[in-house]
This record gives sequence, structure tokens and C-alpha cells, in this order.
Amino acid sequence: MSEYRIVTGARSLGGDIRVPGDKSISHRSIMFGSIAEGTTKVHGFLHGEDNHATLAAFRAMGVEIAEDAAGVLTILGRGLDGLREPTDVLDCGNSGTTMRLMCGLLSGQRFFSVLTGDQYLRRRPMKRVVKPLNEMGARILGRHGGERAPLAIDGGAIRPISYRSPIASAQVKSAVLLAGLYADGLTEVFEPHLSRDHSERMLNYFGADLQRLDGGVALPGRPRLIGREVQVPGDISSAAFFLVAALITPGAELLIRNVGVNPTRSGIIDILQAMGGDIVLQDQRTRSGEPVADLLVRGSDLQGIEIGGDLVPRAIDEFPVISVAAALARGTTTIADAEELRVKETDRIAAICSELGKLGARVEARPDGMMIEGVEELAGAEVESHGDHRIAMSLAVAALRAKSEVRINDTGCTATSFPNFWSLLEQVKQ
Ligand code: S3P
Repeated sequence: MSEYRIVTGARSLGGDIRVPGDKSISHRSIMFGSIAEGTTKVHGFLHGEDNHATLAAFRAMGVEIAEDAAGVLTILGRGLDGLREPTDVLDCGNSGTTMRLMCGLLSGQRFFSVLTGDQYLRRRPMKRVVKPLNEMGARILGRHGGERAPLAIDGGAIRPISYRSPIASAQVKSAVLLAGLYADGLTEVFEPHLSRDHSERMLNYFGADLQRLDGGVALPGRPRLIGREVQVPGDISSAAFFLVAALITPGAELLIRNVGVNPTRSGIIDILQAMGGDIVLQDQRTRSGEPVADLLVRGSDLQGIEIGGDLVPRAIDEFPVISVAAALARGTTTIADAEELRVKETDRIAAICSELGKLGARVEARPDGMMIEGVEELAGAEVESHGDHRIAMSLAVAALRAKSEVRINDTGCTATSFPNFWSLLEQVKQ
């Protein structure tokens, strides 16, 4: 709570930068590398707190993971059945992805384990994974009837299921697929809208035979996974702060290299372009089964738009910073179908409305989103991160267009996903 940052307005903004590795892909590289046969090398791994929680959990289950001076990981895979029972509780810190995906993986292990997390994670809903995993034969108990961590998992014999998830959630889908790796037979997951598909892509990259279905996926159990070289692209969710920073700064021109542009994640680009943002994708290529590009972005006049439906899961982590773009756009932006924002690291709808409101933005909360009326300029104020990395970084971007300085409290949380955010922000400010 003690850490805070003062951010002042930017006259201009520019440069040629890279953002740290993708958080979702970094988690999955450790998980699949650990249960594959042979060695996996991970280049561009995100050395943030969330991913370190996953790393520590797999080391605690007997996986040898070395790191060289350049931050490249070498994982000595132990095969599908090579994990060992941890001798202590596994601490997922702030990381929902660690906890929910591990629930799936641990369901298939013939040992006992307990998952916990920080005060924020222990408030987040877990039934969404516990319910399908219990249907698959896992025994998972937790506080509030399995809704809250700590969660105790008595893993073992897993049955395949065909699961129709009520929410578009990559964490739910991935948890069921990770358990399905240990089932004899075909595990299917259907979701109302397509959520990020990094698990699917990486499973097949490691040798599984996952098939895409209409509205879902099917995974044959007990595949042979073979260790691979993984090139983790820059995280589009981290690039998003710099995309918006450049768009709202007149005259800005910024090149962000090597950003993952997987279509299940690139909703932020579609949204900002629909608002009139000048973003060009250069040198599109594929690395380790994931699409990558360099993004050239220039200061633009933004207009309000309506956002909902399929676009929401494709930009689910970007709504805090999208609301900053909307707060400075001409006209009204409405965000609908985004009730999931209420159960992220914090209730992001409430946090955005209260904190952007303090900066003079005109934001109104709705049960499933927000309505934002653009203004010319924001005001200086003292604001709170709510312990949420993406709220903290979004407020820093908003501060670039504030008349006077903005003090952001409780900023240590940015280390979960973007350890060098503050220095990179200073670097691009001119
Ligand atoms: C993630 C999935 C999303 C996202 C989170 C990372 C993942 O969560 O918000 O930051 O890596 O699978 P949900 O599955 O809850 O939508």
C-alpha cells in the first residue's frame, strides 16, 4: 500500500519499444513444458510476479526449471505423470490464471494439493472451475462450498466430459482441458463466445491432437506431449497501455515491436481502430504457433463507439485502458456484455468509475459495463489502484492528459504483469 507514483502530463510521446512477454502464454509454457517429455526452452518469458507463482508451484512439484542470464527458461519435462506431491500449500499470489489452470491440472494428479492466493485472489469466484472438475471426478473442496480459495484438491481418476461453459472464459476452458489430458477419451468444451485460445494452440504445438468444433474444442485424452522451443511474443495487454498513451497524445508516433496479435486477443486493436485510432500492423508473422506483428501507432482524434458481444472476450483485460481512451474521445462510448469485469483482480467497473471520475472523466456504471462521455482534458487528483495492476497502469495513461499531476496509490501491483512499466512510460514521454 505504501508505494505510490506521481505522473505528470506528456507534451509528446514517441519511440521504438518492446513490451514484456505475454502473461497467458508464459503461464502455459511452464505448465505444458513441465508435463511434456524432454526439454522445453522458453524465450521471452514474462518475469512478473504472476508467472513466478506458476514457476514456484511447478518447482514445488519436482520440476527442474533453470534460468540463464538472459532470462531464458529451460524446463526439464517430467511427462504427464511425473509431477510429485508438493510438501506445502501452493501460493498463487494474485494470479487467477495460476489458480484456475492448476485446479484442472492437479485434478488429474494422483496426489493431494492445496492452492491459496493473496487477499484479492481469495475473494474471486472458483466454482466456475470447481464445478466442471468435480463432474469429471475430481474432489475439490474450498471455502464457501468450493467458491473461494484456499482449495484442497484430491486428484485422481478423471472422466472425460462434454462441458458447455456458461461464460466465455479461457481459464475455465483451459482448466477442463488440462484435466482432460488425464482422462481416457474425448473431452469437449463449448463456450458462448470464443475466449483466448493459447492453451489450444500450445497443446497442439506440443503434439496433442486438439480439434476445433463449432463453438468449442475437443481434446483426446493422454496425448504424448513433447518439449519444444517457445518464443513468447510481447503481451498485447501490456502494449495496450502504450497504444492508448500514443493515441491520446497529439503528434505522438510510437513503434511497439513483437506484439502477439492472436485474433482472440486483438479486440483492443479493432476497438481502437473503430474509434478512429491510427494503428498499423507491420511485418505480420507466426512464432511458436502464435501470430505476431509490430504495431505502429500515432496520435489520433478518437470518437466514442458501442462495444459488446463477441468483442468483449477478445479485449477482456483491456477495458480499464479502453475507458481512458473513451474518456478522452468525442461523444459517447458504451460498453455492454462485460459483467465479467466485476470479478477480475478487483471489480473493474466500480474501480474505473470511481477513479477516472476523480480525474474529471464522465463515467457511469452499468451492471454489465459502462457509459462514458468524452471530455477535452482530465484533471489532476489522488487516485487508488485497488491493488489491480491494470487499474494502476490505466490511471497512469490517463494522467498523461491531466492538467496537473496525478498521484496513484498502491502501485506495487504493476509488478504482477509489467515490471518495467514505469521506466518505459518515462522513456516514451517527450
Ligand atoms: C486469462 C484469461 C482471462 C483473462 C486473464 C488471463 C488466461 O480470464 O482475464 O487475465 O490466461 O487464460 P477469464 O478466463 O476469467 O476471462
